[in-house]
Amino acid sequence: MYDNKQIQVLQQQTLSFLLQAGQQKNLAGPADINQLRDVLRFHEYRYYVMSEPLLSDYEYDRLYQLLQHTEKQHPELISTDSPTQRVGSSLNQSFVTVQHLVPMLSLDNSYNADDLADFDRKARELSGLDTIEYCIEPKFDGASISLIYENDRLVRAATRGDGVEGDDITTNIKQIRSIPLTAAFSSYGISQIEIRGEIIMSKNAFEKYNALLVAQNLSTLANPRNAASGSLRMKDPKDVAQRSLDAFLYHVSYFIKEDTKDHLSTANANLLASHSGTLELLWNLGFRSPQKEKRVVQGIQPVIDYCLDFEAGRDNLPYEIDGMVVKVNDIALQDQLGMTSHHPRWAIAFKFKARQATTKLRAVDFQVGRTGAVTPVAKLDPVYLGGVTVSSISVHNEEYIKEKDLKIGDSVLIERAGDVIPQIVKSLPELRDGTEQDIIFPNVCPVCKSELSKEETEAVWRCINIECEAQVVEKIIHFVSKDAMDIKSFGDANVRKFYELGLLKDIPGIYELAYEQIGELEGFGKKSLDNLRTAIEASKQQPLHRLVYGLGIRFVGETTAKTLANSVEHILDFKNKTEEELIRLEDVGGKVAKSIHHFFLNEQNIHMLEHLATLGLQLKNQKKEVVAAGALMGKTFLFTGTLAKLKRSEAEAMAEAQGGIIVSGVSVKLNYLVVGEDAGSKFEKAKKINTIKIISEEEFLQLVAE
Ligand code: IVH
Repeated sequence: MYDNKQIQVLQQQTLSFLLQAGQQKNLAGPADINQLRDVLRFHEYRYYVMSEPLLSDYEYDRLYQLLQHTEKQHPELISTDSPTQRVGSSLNQSFVTVQHLVPMLSLDNSYNADDLADFDRKARELSGLDTIEYCIEPKFDGASISLIYENDRLVRAATRGDGVEGDDITTNIKQIRSIPLTAAFSSYGISQIEIRGEIIMSKNAFEKYNALLVAQNLSTLANPRNAASGSLRMKDPKDVAQRSLDAFLYHVSYFIKEDTKDHLSTANANLLASHSGTLELLWNLGFRSPQKEKRVVQGIQPVIDYCLDFEAGRDNLPYEIDGMVVKVNDIALQDQLGMTSHHPRWAIAFKFKARQATTKLRAVDFQVGRTGAVTPVAKLDPVYLGGVTVSSISVHNEEYIKEKDLKIGDSVLIERAGDVIPQIVKSLPELRDGTEQDIIFPNVCPVCKSELSKEETEAVWRCINIECEAQVVEKIIHFVSKDAMDIKSFGDANVRKFYELGLLKDIPGIYELAYEQIGELEGFGKKSLDNLRTAIEASKQQPLHRLVYGLGIRFVGETTAKTLANSVEHILDFKNKTEEELIRLEDVGGKVAKSIHHFFLNEQNIHMLEHLATLGLQLKNQKKEVVAAGALMGKTFLFTGTLAKLKRSEAEAMAEAQGGIIVSGVSVKLNYLVVGEDAGSKFEKAKKINTIKIISEEEFLQLVAE
């Protein structure tokens, strides 16, 4: 990107600008400003793209401030591609949907050497070649983006979205310093170009960012990928800047080349003829492409070797990758091979295996959940596994423990695939020394000591004492949770704390808190107390279905809670409903009906609801009259596959707004199945039931509009 001569000049200019910054001098004029911008761009490139800075952070800041200061005095000289213009000012931006110039496809996956050999065989058959040249590079684990440059300037950045349309996130993307705002594409005769890549967060940045969250008492992010993808649509660009994101660019999907015989040397033209050349061209123009990580080889065997080598060293990389991508190197051959509607035939992802580690199982704790289920949790010697430290893992139930042959003191093999919760794969009995002990399942509740019971058809043991402390606490936690009554600023920790201090003993107690006493606790200033009180008061007006869900009736999820709430005028109407009546409701089977019936037969539960009514909670179905007029009244809907225009939740809300009912499975009770892209088993099942109307998203929108 910069040759030695240029570097020398830029370094000299750097020194001179640093001197001026030290003497608090202003720059002379436009020529100087442009030079300073070039100097800053150079240092950004050294730092963010090459990871070889030539300046300390402090010195960089001095230069940056010098530019800021000068631009303030000469606002007429500010240009949109100045390094100072990355920081956007539009608070609370909303995102406009934009069309991709070329659809953003996905990749086909392979998992082992055989899959790769298959891929190679097909490519050879289709092309008629004996040996194919491949370029291999890491599969970055982040969020994909598209960048468009016109006349050397970044004009648009967009998320992948559904592959056809994404969100315009240009302002946010400008916060990422490894993405140049300008690049000299014109020197290659290119006037417009679309580049694809991945926004990632390095392991280091991820750890620092999480530490920051911990310090602010906020919940941490699960992994670098979530951190990166969650950043793209943040409302305030400053928040994006704070996350120290990074980008790898690995694909050119489209470009327009002017007819420029003079300045397009043969060497440059050739670059775009191969994938490896494209990576080199991007690198030469100041982009962080996998130029150093890539490898070009002939035939599939070296591809396999390189993939396995990289997999072995993945933990030493500064960023997360979840596999490798193998691409046919010759672009003309890529075009010849073409693509399916889902993925190109000239590329394939090689997915890494789940990460595994061995550690010791030291003990088993037994935890009591909201429904009284007693879950054994294995306590392990802490071990680092794919971005997180694992020290405890649920081992589900007695049968599971037997099946995996687990003993206390065992060495165990654990694994974690991507985002998935860590699991014990197996114990390693060959490493036993005789001191291991059987895991004894308790026959009394570890919390309230009452006897546990187990139904024949179930694998779990339960504490059936409904006054059991553990259950009461878990029930309150569920009641205040986001999907139930959504009492913000309450949270698990506060529920536990208040319970332990005797300030809260049941669900109605939430609405009778002694705020004066809470105000005396450490960490409860006036502001947090006010927030808590406001959130609790606001929850009294939550729609009925949230209350029904919040009660934590077994087998009643959010969808069923909505069906239930919609079927009555007042929650206490359930007292008089028989199981048969309940089964007639959409989405309610025998097991669910029994559980609901049982709940409303219980005197204590009825007392609790009456108590909640006296405390001012809304127990009536307020929406009922409104939806009665809805065009889709009583019709059942199910959405499957990926919708192109609407989010699933938006579509569901639209149906519900007109009286429609959302169900969770295909059955004869279903009226409409709305199918999006890649619809699977639900679609197949619905085709066999001819009373179900199968409609597209478009048809659904028409239905709603009518
Ligand atoms: S090539 C038509 N190369 O993986 C070109 N994709 O599972 C298709 N990804 O959507 C993409 N690293 O977001 C390509 N080196 C790489 C990649 C990569 C990560 C992502 C990309 C894609 C997804 C498919």
